Parts: sequence; structure tokens; C-alpha cells
Amino acid sequence: MGSGGRTDLDGGAVAPLTICVIGTGGFIGSHLCEKLMAETQQTVLAVDVYCDKIRHLVDPPPPHLAGRISFHRLNIKNDSRLEGLIKMADLTINLAAICMPADYNTRPLDTIYSNFIDALPVVRALAPRLFSMVLSTFPRTECLSVTHLSVLRACAGQVLDPEVVCPVRPSRGMR
Ligand SMILES: NC(=O)c1ccc[n+]([C@@H]2O[C@H](COP(=O)([O-])OP(=O)(O)OC[C@H]3O[C@@H](n4cnc5c(N)ncnc54)[C@H](O)[C@@H]3O)[C@@H](O)[C@H]2O)c1
Repeated sequence: MGSGGRTDLDGGAVAPLTICVIGTGGFIGSHLCEKLMAETQQTVLAVDVYCDKIRHLVDPPPPHLAGRISFHRLNIKNDSRLEGLIKMADLTINLAAICMPADYNTRPLDTIYSNFIDALPVVRALAPRLFSMVLSTFPRTECLSVTHLSVLRACAGQVLDPEVVCPVRPSRGMR
């Protein structure tokens, strides 16, 4: 990407995003971070329990990246700072997981928890935004199941107003 940054269809400048990359110390996260720093103007809130692979970017950030990347050492399972970081971000990418094939057999429960349960705080922190996005994007469609909406509603602590949202009916294929 050129130094001119992104432009919209009218040629106007598009402001850089703040992206919360969770699992940024891992294989994909570290390469993603390097790419974002080298080829875009985006800002990264890097979240992981360790940062060896991105140490050259965050410990401390080199002068030309100052203010564009910060590392937050936290476990997404149980750290209250996570919600604040997600709220600060325009976009959240969650890559945190146990994904070593060797672990699948030797740590099966940890693997399942890591891939599904441990990420729930991320979903909860995103739920209010997802909920309003869903309502504004699909107000009267059958795109989402009742279950999807119920989960989002429960996470967002919102009451579903039947006048506003026609509860999503199962599509023909799901009946
Ligand atoms: N690497 C691949 O080829 C590949 C292919 C397809 C899908 N994926 C998926 O992409 C995602 C990332 O893969 P990867 O190869 O970068 O994995 P990785 O193991 O290299 O990185 C995962 C990172 O998440 C962090 N992490 C795990 N649990 C955490 C927690 N509770 N709190 C904070 N950080 C935590 C780990 O410290 C690690 O740095 C995974 O969901 C994986 O299944 C990977």
C-alpha cells in the first residue's frame, strides 16, 4: 500500500482503523501484525499472554511505529481489561486458541475450552455492537435464527422488542 493511505470511491481519505488483534503472539497474529505495521496505517492493540514473536514490534515499539502498536499481556478468559480494549477498537480479530495438532490428543478438553468457551468474554464484549448491527442490517429478514438472536440478546443484555424486530423464523430448509 502506498503512503497515501486508503481512499473511498470519491477519492476521500479513509481514516485508519484501530484493530484489536487477540492471539497476536502466535503464528498468524505475529505475521498479521508485521504486515499491518509495514503496509498499512492501521493502529494495533496487540493482545496475548506472550509476545516473543512480536518483541521487535512492541518491546518497545521502534520510533517509526510509536503510537501505532501497543502490547497488552492478558488472558482473555479472565481479564477485565479486555472489554476496554475491544471497545477502543473499530475491529477485533480473535486468533487466540490452542491449535497445535499435538495438543488435540493430549489436551483434548483444554483444546475445546480454548477454542469455544474461553473466547466467550470476547463475544460478550462485542455483543452490544453486534446486536445493534444485526438489528439495523437485518431488521425483518430470516437471515438469522432465533437462537443466534437470543444469544446476542442475552450477551448484550438487551430486550428484544417484537414491534421492532420480527423474530427470525426458521427458513424453509431449517424446518
Ligand atoms: N496456523 C494455521 O495454519 C491455521 C490454519 C487454519 C486456522 N487457524 C486458526 O487460526 C487461529 C490462530 O492460529 P495460529 O496458528 O496463529 O495459532 P498459535 O498457537 O500460533 O497462536 C495462538 C495464540 O493465542 C494465544 N492465546 C491462546 N489462548 C489465549 C488466551 N486465553 N488469552 C490470550 N492469548 C491466548 C497464544 O499465546 C498464541 O500466541 C486459530 O484459531 C487456528 O485454529 C490456523
